[in-house]
Formats: sequence, structure tokens, C-alpha cells
Amino acid sequence: MRFNPFTPEATRLVLVLVGLPARGKTFIGRKLGRYLKWLGFSARVFNIGDYRRTRLGTHHRHDFFDPTNVEGNRLRNELAALALDDLMKWMAAGGQVGIYDATNTTHQRRQQLHERCTEAGLDVVFIESVCEDPTIIEANIRETKLTSPDYEGNDPDEAARDFRARIDHYTRAYEPLNEDDFSYIKLIDVGRVIVMHSIHGYVPGKLVNFLMNLHLIRRPIWLTRHGESQFNVQGRIGGDSNLTTQGKAYAAALAHFVREHAIRPPIVWTSTLKRTIETAKPLQVPSLTWRALDEIDAGTCDALTYGEIAEKYPEEYNARRKDKLNYRYPRGESYTDVILRLEPVILELEREREPVLVIGHQAVLRMLYAYFMDRRPEDVVNMEIPIHTVIELTPGPYAFEERRYCLDIGADSSTWGSAMED
Ligand code: F6P
Repeated sequence: MRFNPFTPEATRLVLVLVGLPARGKTFIGRKLGRYLKWLGFSARVFNIGDYRRTRLGTHHRHDFFDPTNVEGNRLRNELAALALDDLMKWMAAGGQVGIYDATNTTHQRRQQLHERCTEAGLDVVFIESVCEDPTIIEANIRETKLTSPDYEGNDPDEAARDFRARIDHYTRAYEPLNEDDFSYIKLIDVGRVIVMHSIHGYVPGKLVNFLMNLHLIRRPIWLTRHGESQFNVQGRIGGDSNLTTQGKAYAAALAHFVREHAIRPPIVWTSTLKRTIETAKPLQVPSLTWRALDEIDAGTCDALTYGEIAEKYPEEYNARRKDKLNYRYPRGESYTDVILRLEPVILELEREREPVLVIGHQAVLRMLYAYFMDRRPEDVVNMEIPIHTVIELTPGPYAFEERRYCLDIGADSSTWGSAMED
């Protein structure tokens, strides 16, 4: 359970995706779900394609989706109802944001959804993705649809033909979203144009801001802690100490790594603390210093070792062990506080189209990692983010892929800086 003033418990919202197949609805739905969960909302995606595959199998070809196919229609309506029932049950059990990922391409279907949600006291926002650019559609088919279980083992060209025929069936029945009495966001050509209609409230406003930053450009995000610092060697937390000789060797190795790996020079972000700025130095590129990337503020415990904290402030020490996510250091921060201040960093990382190298700190990187890898923040508060290691995150069709590079600096330096209290 997260104590977060920005995720009001009163939030009861259904996001209904709308759009033809291969318009990025699942991409959008999953991204929204990941973002909302990271912020502390209970959010969940209900994807009708998954319902079809689990209940009816993966063998359906385009004629199943033909609006004149009576049996196909009946089954598809049944699945839509089943997914919606599950969503409503989940909301009734305390879910905050349910995301209904289906085509929902007719007025009638949307009207039914709207009625059912509003009768249950839920707010509804429709999010339509419109895209007429054939290159984007074709790329989407090739990258996401042909790798789906629906076409496993099929010839890619034949599968692409079948999928295009499926799109044609939906296109015949498609009624674009323009209902005057609905709240909606329309994304045209991956955010080139965004139309908002009757969007009110804290969460919908946040979603618009988030959606405005989305793009499809694949570029790596590199996360690394600073090189070994004087405080790391002494086992002290926080502070603003300089790098050790080993730490400086890592800074040099990092610059070498970037030159070897980057197709083009990355944008470099550091915190305002000396150890990250010194780590960026050998890169010899301008870097941006973010206060929001500073390490968790340990307040009155800053500059102590974990042993000293346990001895001087045993209650604080034990309280943190019990609930590390929500525990706030006296006159300092909690992990939940860190998440809130990292939100603009996440939006910038989403918006940025160039590779980005983030040189940060353990707690801060854990929370950035949780966002990208769709992990619950509470599950990564003790996760190892070793020093002298680059975590490369590359966007795949729906999720980020991770690769770690432990850089060779000519000596074993990996003894410091992990969660030493555990
Ligand atoms: O020990 C290095 C460090 O970055 C400290 O400055 C910071 O307080 C700590 O890691 C965060 O890790 P944890 O939340 O596990 O104490």
C-alpha cells in the first residue's frame, strides 16, 4: 500500500481505447497502465485479444472478424462482454483505473460502455488512436502483429496480408469518435495532432500530458550509478563526496563505453551531486544537472553508516526495514517522495528522441528502473543496482528490454555501494 497524496482514493476511472487494429492501442494502453501503476494507482489493462486467444485459441483468420460473419460477431461480442464484466468486477473490488483495450469502433458499442460505467458511478475517458500513415501501420503490423501468437509459425507476408484483411473488415464498420457528450482524447498520427474533448480532472489531465510525449523512436536509455565515491568506501549514505581513484577509472571506462556503443552522442543527465558530475566529465559532452536526480535525502541520517543509524536511531532503522517504500527519513525523504519528484524526469525521458545516459544514484535509479521495467516500486527498493555497471534499456514493441554491462576498470571494485544494510 502506497501513501501518496497524488493518487486520490476517490479516483474511479475507466479508459476506453478506440481505433482500428494496428493503431497502437495496446502500446498506449500498456504504457498508460505502467505509468499509472508507477505513480501508485491501482491500474489494470483488459485486452480483448488476450481473452480471445485464451478462450478460443489463436487460429482465427481475417474472416472471423468480418462484420457479416454471424458466428464470429456473436463470439466477439461475448468476449467483449466477458472482458468488461471482469473490468467492472475489478473496479468494484477497489481498482482505480481500468483500461479497456479493444477496437470499440462503433457508436453503439461505445454508448453501451458509457452507460454501463456511468451507471456504476465510474468516470469514462475514451482514447482514440487514429493513424492513416501507411508506413506507420505497416511497421506496426510487422513488429507487433506478426510476432503475436495469432501468427506463430506463419509466413510473414501471408500473415501481413491476412492482418490487412482484418483491418479492412473493421474499417467498413468504423465510426470515428465524435460523441458530443463523452470525454475523449484523440491522438492523430502518434500525437502529431491531439484533440481533447471535455477533459477535466487531475488524472485525465495527467494522461493528456503523458500522451503528448509519446513517440515510436527506438533509442536506448542508459542508467548508471556514479563511480565509486569516498562515502561508498566508508559505507556512508548520502553526502556529497568525490570519486575515489576506482570511481575515476569507471568514469573513464564509461566514456569509452559510450564512444563504442552509441550510434550518436547521447544526452547526458546527472544529479547536482559531485560524484555524478565527476563521472560525466570524461565524456566531454555538455550534461544537464537535475536536482530531481539527487539521491534520496536521508535527512538526519545523512552521512552515517547503516550501523551508526541502527545504533543512534534504532526506531528509525527498524521502521525503515518494515516499510522501506513509505518510510521517510526524519527531515528527509521516502521512496514515495522520490517517485513524485522523478515524474518530470520520466516525462522528459519519454519525450526525448535521442539516446539518454542518466548518471544517478542507487535509490533514484531503482525508481526509474521500476517505471521502465514495469516493476512495482515496493519490489525493487532492495534491488541491486551495482556500481560500475551500465543498465541499457531498449524499447521493444510493448516493453523495454534490459541488458547490463559491467565495465572493466582493471580491478575488483564491486564490493561497495549495494544495499549494505540487508
Ligand atoms: O549507499 C549508497 C546510497 O546511494 C546512499 O547514498 C543512499 O542513501 C542509499 O544508497 C539508498 O539505498 P537504500 O535505500 O537501500 O538505503
